[in-house]
Amino acid sequence: MKIRIPATSANLGPGFDSCGIALSQYLSIEVLGNAKEWKIEHTLGEDIPVDETNLLIQTALQVAPGLSPKNLKMTSDIPLARGLGSSSSVIVAGIELANRLGNLNLTQKNKLEIATEIEGHPDNVAPAICGDFVVASYIGDEVHYVKHHFPMCDVIAYVPDVQLLTSESRSVLPKSMPYKEAVQASAIANVMIAAILNGNLPLAGEMMEEDRWHEAYRNELVPHLAQIRSIGHAVGAYGAFLSGAGPTVLVLTPEEKTDQMVLELEKLSQSATINVLSIDQEGIQVF
Ligand code: HSE
Repeated sequence: MKIRIPATSANLGPGFDSCGIALSQYLSIEVLGNAKEWKIEHTLGEDIPVDETNLLIQTALQVAPGLSPKNLKMTSDIPLARGLGSSSSVIVAGIELANRLGNLNLTQKNKLEIATEIEGHPDNVAPAICGDFVVASYIGDEVHYVKHHFPMCDVIAYVPDVQLLTSESRSVLPKSMPYKEAVQASAIANVMIAAILNGNLPLAGEMMEEDRWHEAYRNELVPHLAQIRSIGHAVGAYGAFLSGAGPTVLVLTPEEKTDQMVLELEKLSQSATINVLSIDQEGIQVF
């Protein structure tokens, strides 16, 4: 059995802690067979445990404590701690592993509830589970969500060669916000979502760049965001936004502008990787 989970990008600017898209980079888990103790083969770096302390196994055992140990293989092309949902993909894979090995028959909603409780917000785990574009809320302990098709475009990921922990990037956010500003921030998010549902990427992109919830507070941690945005305007991209808590920036482009945008981004810095991705429409896949 092989489980495949996509990378994700949360927020899309004003959809803070609520909106996310699934992307065409993947974490794969292969079940190799029974074992005396849990063991994971991987080449993801020395810091990632290969035993029961790995987040994948921890999550699976949290969901189904009685699972018997397996030999597993983990591969991934999702960069770690860059704002592309690497830990969410592991949590979702752990839930699906428990679901399959323990014959739990979890529904999509069950999986999302478990994943959101572990992660604290649904914006990465929801598209990792469902694929495509998902809008979700997590109020009290209730999760509500809607999946919808995301309009056709290229997604350019500008991935700096430095890690930024979500905890650090959340520590710069304010504790409260004046009512009037919150109403404006919410209106911008509402128009962005409606524009996506309408297939109107020029308007959606404009709203993505008008976020009032988090990007301005994170500016000092991600100085390249403003530079990429102005390059995007010159080239004719739809819009650019911080992917999750950063430091990755995503740029949405019409296909015919992608090459030029990549060329301009390559000039910006040598200490970043630039990937041209697309939207993953499937979410969890089990082969
Ligand atoms: N919505 C989250 C944030 C995503 O921006 O902090 C990262 O987990």
